Formats: sequence, C-alpha cells, structure tokens
Amino acid sequence: MAIRKVGVVGCGLMGGGIAQTCAQSGYETVVREVNQELLDKGMARIYGAWDMLASKGKISQGQVDENRRRLHGTLNLEGFADCDLVIEAVIENMEEKLRLFPALDRIVKPEGLLLSNTSSLNVTQMGAVTKRPDKVCGLHFFNPAPVMKLVEVVRTISTSEETVETVKQFAVSLGKTPVLAKDTAGFIVNFLLIPYLIAAIRMLENGMASRDDIDTAMKLGCGYPMGPFTLLDYVGLDTTLWAAEAIYDEYKDPLYAPPPLLRRMVLSGMNGKKSGKGFYDYQQ
Ligand code: CAA
Repeated sequence: MAIRKVGVVGCGLMGGGIAQTCAQSGYETVVREVNQELLDKGMARIYGAWDMLASKGKISQGQVDENRRRLHGTLNLEGFADCDLVIEAVIENMEEKLRLFPALDRIVKPEGLLLSNTSSLNVTQMGAVTKRPDKVCGLHFFNPAPVMKLVEVVRTISTSEETVETVKQFAVSLGKTPVLAKDTAGFIVNFLLIPYLIAAIRMLENGMASRDDIDTAMKLGCGYPMGPFTLLDYVGLDTTLWAAEAIYDEYKDPLYAPPPLLRRMVLSGMNGKKSGKGFYDYQQ
C-alpha cells in the first residue's frame, strides 16, 4: 500500500517530533492537538527545529518552506479521514487510547493503518477496540524523534503481514532503521533500558554515589551520550514511571518496580526537562 498522507495525534514532545520527521521526509502531514494553545506551542517547536537546521546550513530556506507547506495543524480528528496512516502519540494512558482508537476507526478511511507510538502499553488491546485489528500495530519512536535512528515496529497477534511490511517500508522512508518486536510490555528497548534507569535511582536513594558521579561514570565509562539522570530528565520522569508500571504490571518482576523517589518526584510535578525540574534544575 502506498503511503502519501500521514496523520499524527498529539503535538507534544513525541508527536511533534514524529510530525516533523514525516513532513520533512516528504509526506503530507496533519497533526492534531486538543486546543489551540498546545497546537501553537507544538508547531512553533517544529518550525524552530527547521529554522535551526537552516541556520546550520543543513537544509535550505526552500526546504523549510516546503516542509511548512506539507505540515497542517488541526484541532479535530476529522482531518485524518483521507490519511493512509495515522500515528497516535497521546498521553500514555490506556483509557485515553481506548477512547481514541474507536474514534479513529470511525473516521479514517477503511484501508488506513492505525499505529501507536506507545512505549509499553498493550497494542493488541488498542486494535481490539477497532474493526480493523489487522491494520493496527505499534510504531515506537525514540526521543528526539527526528534524530534517533531506531523505531520499534510492534506486531500484535492480529496484525497482518502486509501491515508489518508497509510500516517497515514507511519507517525506512523516514530514514529510520526498524526492528520488529512482539507486543509484550516494554518491547525491546524499554525492557532493557528501564531496569538500568531504575537502578540508577535506587543507587541515589541508597546514597551509593552522587547524581553527578553516576552520570559521569556512565558517560565516560560506557561511552553513553547521556548519563542516566540526564536521560531520565530528557525522556520525562512521568513517561519513565508509566513505562515501569506497565512492564511491572505484566511480569511482576521487582526489577521494574518503580522506586519511591521516582513516584514522589512525578507526584510533585518534577517531570524532568519539559517541566523545568527533574533530577536537574532547568529553570535558571
Ligand atoms: N530535528 C532535526 N535535527 C535535530 C533536532 C531536530 N528537532 N534536534 C537536534 N538535531 C540534530 C542537531 O542539528 C545535531 O546535528 P549535528 O550533530 O549534525 O549538528 C544533532 O541532532 C545533535 O544535536 P545537538 O548537537 O543539539 O546535541 P548532542 O550532540 O548533545 O546530541 C542527543 C543530543 C541526540 C539527544 C544525544 O545526547 C543522545 O543521543 N542522547 C540519548 C538520547 C536517547 O537515548 N534517547 C532515547 C531515550 S528512550 C526513549 O525515547 C524511549 C521511551 O519510550 C522512553
């Protein structure tokens, strides 16, 4: 199936990055937010990224104009009716997703594919509330979506071979490398990454080393681009907590049990870089 027009639900950190990636890869792209303020904020972030790339000489002003022309913001789902593929990147809350998928199923043309950018929720359940579970799968991007090369294609027990193939080709057309994962909590990356991030928080809770020393150790000792606390703040503490909870719910493995400090920081609104404060302070 040929993909020409793409819909993205949500223009936050991930949705905005995904919409940017699709538009700059040549797709007509519609991105939807729930109110004008959030839409304006998300679009401004995307325009800012293109201006930054142009100022570095990575793209021309003509390409910026073309990208902008291909990207359309909307406040309603009806704009997705003629999309060949829709990617949802709304909050990691199953109730939200279970409200969204039947609505997309009603609106998007019958042959359209419905994808979720969820990092750890059950994609099978999202497909089950539609009349097209064979056309539903996960397409999990990594933050920052325009830069990170990996996407996880998450196949449910109902996803058809044709859908998987189309989505893999679509991923390649975005300049990404797809890996195929079964629909089990955490897929590949978070199943491995979450215990590492949680272990770093436990080390801090137990006073085994300081935040800065743990970050420095993993950057310089392992060659990671960011230490665990910088990465936690970058990904979002709320996102990390939801991912840990989802994997813990599935396996009841204590490796994934959210540490008390993580839960309390999220309860205090300390969600990392996007909220101005997490393990580091971004307000100064
Ligand atoms: N659009 C296009 N290009 C962009 C961009 C954007 N929005 N933002 C940055 N870039 C480009 C920059 O132009 C720059 O390109 P050049 O090197 O060619 O100049 C490049 O990306 C790197 O950007 P910076 O120079 O600003 O920053 P950096 O070199 O310090 O790298 C980083 C930043 C890529 C984020 C790097 O620190 C990194 O890889 N960190 C780890 C990120 C990571 O692990 N992400 C996965 C998290 S897990 C997840 O997301 C899954 C989940 O479900 C929780």
